[in-house]
Amino acid sequence: MSIPLSLTVNGRTVTASVDPRTLLVQFIREQQQLTGTHVGCDTAQCGACTVHMNGKAVKSCSMLALQAQGAEITTIEGLSQNGTLHPMQAAFRECHGLQCGFCTPGMVMSSVKLLQDNPTATETQIREALDGNICRCTGYHNIVKSIQLCQSGKVSATTVAASIQAAA
Ligand code: FES
Ligand code: FES
Repeated sequence: MSIPLSLTVNGRTVTASVDPRTLLVQFIREQQQLTGTHVGCDTAQCGACTVHMNGKAVKSCSMLALQAQGAEITTIEGLSQNGTLHPMQAAFRECHGLQCGFCTPGMVMSSVKLLQDNPTATETQIREALDGNICRCTGYHNIVKSIQLCQSGKVSATTVAASIQAAA
């Protein structure tokens, strides 16, 4: 049995038919081919699957696609604009806030939401806010530095220019 689903993904209206058991992350990755959203666990702990739904950061592995009926979803692919990295993406690049990169899409989505909710977050608050995102590589130091760089508004122009070149 399939059920019609209509929602907005990265600003684009999407209509589809989904099995009611389909998880939102499966819909995003397998039906929308937006594979930047990762699956890193089966216990809703790692946060690699984090997307924004109606302005909130959610773990897309822990909800059904049909629960996003009518919602506005933003995935990591929807953060950059016209080939320019979002400042948070640029900050992660500049501060080497990643090693293997598997956790990075979820980290970035959670970090963007963190600064939207609390633009003046302290280091302690940043670390607490990342509680739902697990990185198995970096020790978090450069991830926190990346968020603080984005927070400062001092992401270097060369980083943004490099991202434009890379996207060209
Ligand atoms: S895949 Fe969703 S929390 Fe790990
Ligand atoms: S960079 Fe490898 S899991 Fe975070």
